[in-house]
Amino acid sequence: MNLDDVRDDLSTVLFTEEQIQARMLELAAQIDKDYADKSPLMVGILNGAVMVMADLSRALTIHCEMDWMAISSYGSGVASSGVVRILKDLNTAIAGRHVLIVEDIIDTGLTLAYLAGNLRSRNPASIEICAAFRKPEALCNEVNVKYLGFDIPSDFVVGYGLDYAGHYRNLRGLGVLSPKVYS
Ligand code: IMP
Repeated sequence: MNLDDVRDDLSTVLFTEEQIQARMLELAAQIDKDYADKSPLMVGILNGAVMVMADLSRALTIHCEMDWMAISSYGSGVASSGVVRILKDLNTAIAGRHVLIVEDIIDTGLTLAYLAGNLRSRNPASIEICAAFRKPEALCNEVNVKYLGFDIPSDFVVGYGLDYAGHYRNLRGLGVLSPKVYS
C-alpha cells in the first residue's frame, strides 16, 4: 500500500519508503560494525517490528539469528497503557547471547523498559535496543536506544508495521493518522 492510496486518512506524511530504507541501511552498517564476529540474536516484537526486522536484517552483511516475542499492552486505541503481558515468548535461550531488541516505535518507553528488564534477567552477554521511531515522551523515561531510525512528533502514526485497529501496517512510508479516522 502506498502513501497515495490512503492520503486522505493522513494529516501529514512524515517519511517516504525511500527515506526509511536509506536510514535502515545506515543503521545496518553500524550494526555490522558493532557486531562483527558476534552473530547477534535479533529479537523482534510482534507485530509492529516485522517490517523493521525484514529490512534491517537483510541489509546486514554479518550473520544474525532472529526470534520473536509477542506482547500485548492492555487496552486498545491510540494511547499506550504501559501494562505489558507476554503472549509469545522466545524460542531461543539467550544466556550468553548478544541480544538486539528490534522494535517499531517507542512512545512512552514502558513496553521496552519492561521487556529489556525481563530479557536482562536471563543473563544475555549483552542487550541493546534498535527502534525505527521514537516519540518525545520516551526521552523522559530514559530508554537507552542504541540504534534509532528517526525521532518523530508525539502524534499517532501509521505505516511501516504500525497499525490503527489492525490496518495500515502494510503502508509503505509513515504518516500521522488524521484524527477524523479515530474520533
Ligand atoms: P510504549 O510502551 O508507550 O513505548 O508503546 C510502544 C507500543 O505502542 C509500540 O510497540 C506500538 O505497538 C504502540 N504505539 C505507540 N505509538 C504508536 C503509534 O503512533 N502508532 C501505532 N502504534 C503505536
